[in-house]
Amino acid sequence: MEKIVVQGGKRLQGEVSISGAKNAAVAIIPAAILVDGVCVIENVPNIRDVHVIVGIMEHMGAKIEFLDKYTLRIDCSCMDKQTAPQEMVRKMRASYYLLGALLGRFHRAEVAMPGGCNFGSRPIDQHIKGFKALGAKVFCEGVVKAAADELNGTSIYLDIVSVGATINVMLAAVLAKGRTTIENVAKEPHIVDVANFLNAMGADIKGAGTDVIRIRGVERLKGGTYSIIPDQIEAGTFMIAAAATGGDILVKNIIPKHMESVSAKLIEIGAQVEELDDAIRVLGTGKIKNANVKTLPYPGFPTDMQPQMVSLLSVASGTSIVTESVWDSRFQYVDELRRMGADIRVDGKTAVINGVERLEGAAVSATDLRGGAGMVIAGLMAQGTTEIYELQHIDRGYEKMEEKFQALGADIRRVIG
Ligand code: EPZ
Repeated sequence: MEKIVVQGGKRLQGEVSISGAKNAAVAIIPAAILVDGVCVIENVPNIRDVHVIVGIMEHMGAKIEFLDKYTLRIDCSCMDKQTAPQEMVRKMRASYYLLGALLGRFHRAEVAMPGGCNFGSRPIDQHIKGFKALGAKVFCEGVVKAAADELNGTSIYLDIVSVGATINVMLAAVLAKGRTTIENVAKEPHIVDVANFLNAMGADIKGAGTDVIRIRGVERLKGGTYSIIPDQIEAGTFMIAAAATGGDILVKNIIPKHMESVSAKLIEIGAQVEELDDAIRVLGTGKIKNANVKTLPYPGFPTDMQPQMVSLLSVASGTSIVTESVWDSRFQYVDELRRMGADIRVDGKTAVINGVERLEGAAVSATDLRGGAGMVIAGLMAQGTTEIYELQHIDRGYEKMEEKFQALGADIRRVIG
């Protein structure tokens, strides 16, 4: 059994380079199904979710090759299956993007309900609403089956601001006949990145990053080269680690604009944050003030940074209130933090955190991907040794997390067996 072992209390110092964005990569790779030609995708993070989506698409007939560690060559011209293998699909949430991409290209898709982190109910009704509005018939009984004679552009209003539904409906609409307008869409940086990728391949998408996306259907997408944006959540995780350890970290290869809500909160908590062109330096001052945080769709504070922030606030002076407003149930990891001495009460979607003087090392589990990142932050701050289990969650979304922390001076290692 693998575990990460952290000896807490080291001040982190130095530079860290951020990998390509997981949530952009897991959408752009299946988006290549729509492309009539070869796509070369650069800055692909080397993480488990990427290998899973690549494996699924290869199984369906796509020719995919790593030109180097971070560059994928994808050729879907000979893809001959529109049914995704169930056992692989259930390994990751983003396999739902196969639905939009297969429907867009073949007018037919069959994909099992996706897996991924467990945050309570994770419906995909808004994705299905969009596919139906474009003219598909959709049946959903454990497996989602979608089929259409043709797809026609239309006007769609999403009832909920959803990253997945925004991207999936966009994928289904790029090759549809006529114009599609999607209103009340999500604005996350990876949505803009997927739209930029599709436009670079010949699509006509306008408005990504605003509330309304307008698409003119085109006949075909051609091949090309595209580079994925840096991972906003990996960057935020290292920024919080700097504040948590009273450290001094230059987080490189990022888009500082994407980090505004995290930077603002860290300044409020007492850290110094210096924005450069493509980097942010965070200087922990040793003081961690209490603060209230509410997660919101972009540009609000990201739900995917919530566990890391709660770990930090667990040693703040005073009481902090963290409200999760995106997912029904995203505080499972709090029980693990309590094992380390945190004083946190969860009431529904709110956590009340009474800052304690210090956390104590303990054996804990990564309950999900970002919960696991929160445990690493807690371990870096804690007195003594923390052992973190269930690393498969962390490996889904962080590339060589422990090696990047080691390079910053952390006493952290992965132990196998
Ligand atoms: C994406 O999930 C991310 N995953 C998540 O990151 C992230 O937490 C989430 O967006 C919010 O930012 C990927 O990009 C692969 P949503 P997604 O659709 O698209 C409800 C991580 O740690 N909803 O924006 O699945 C839903 O239940 C992961 O990297 C519906 O009701 O999230 C939730 O409450 C975890 N009906 C809210 O909307 C729908 O049809 C937002 O979900 C779709 C969503």
